[in-house]
Amino acid sequence: MIIVVGSINMDIVVQVDHQPAPGETILGSDYETHPGGKGANQAVAAARLGANVRMIGRVGSDAFGQQLLSGLNHEGIDTHWLKTLETPSGVAFINVDKQGQNSIIVAPGANARLKPEELRPEAFAKAKVVLMQLEIPLNTVRRAAKLGQEAGATVILNAAPAKQLEPSDYQDIDVLVVNEIEAGMLLGKARACNPAEALALADNLLKLIPAVIITLGEQGAVWKSDNDAGQLPAFAVAALDTTAAGDAFLGALALALSQGDSLANAVRSASAAGALAASKAGAQPSLPTRDELENFLRGSL
Ligand code: RIB
Repeated sequence: MIIVVGSINMDIVVQVDHQPAPGETILGSDYETHPGGKGANQAVAAARLGANVRMIGRVGSDAFGQQLLSGLNHEGIDTHWLKTLETPSGVAFINVDKQGQNSIIVAPGANARLKPEELRPEAFAKAKVVLMQLEIPLNTVRRAAKLGQEAGATVILNAAPAKQLEPSDYQDIDVLVVNEIEAGMLLGKARACNPAEALALADNLLKLIPAVIITLGEQGAVWKSDNDAGQLPAFAVAALDTTAAGDAFLGALALALSQGDSLANAVRSASAAGALAASKAGAQPSLPTRDELENFLRGSL
């Protein structure tokens, strides 16, 4: 089982010609709402590919909360440990520009109230992979990682959005996944602009974690562990909306690692899932099914 401990948001999405500058007001399209949140997106991504997934998180007692919860149930995700709190749900305000690039502001709501002491060891008992991001409190991420290790799972941290972490924050993490900007931010260095620079950043991060994967958008992805390293160019697709492309990558990666795949194979399937998500609009609406992913990989041989 893949256990995702993370955020659940309603995304309010507006298409814009360009991202507004400070002090600028612009007119965009009508807004749309889509279920999102890095945690929920990654859970749905893995479930659509056929994984057995449990989501641990919090939603609010508003209409968004009910919609988000029923959406996860509809995807076949185990929500036994997901609670509804008397607070607003997490909401993400997303602008998508003509190049398909987005900017996102998250109002965390109930996500910020997922406390470490509320995570129960029995919820992790069947974990093969535990997957977390940084849209919930850091103390909760630390405890989830520890419970994952105690259960014998592979613990994956997607350090997004990036924040300053202490070396001890990595101690229960097996695989770190970040994009080229986040990798630089974690190390207090400049972003990686190409695969060679990303591999150099991965080298630094390897002092703290056994395996590191850095995604580079149109330049693909690199990975490095004690006994393996490599890079993969991006799959060519017309990017319509990159929202949740990273989450599709993480969901597919978690599934592949839970099945014992090598890092190289896992990154290949994850990159294909990310490319498919970038070619469609929205967060969860863009996440591919297993058939879509298999057909795409077959067509790219
Ligand atoms: O990674 C994309 C997600 O980031 C969106 O769905 C939004 O909710 C934010 O969490």
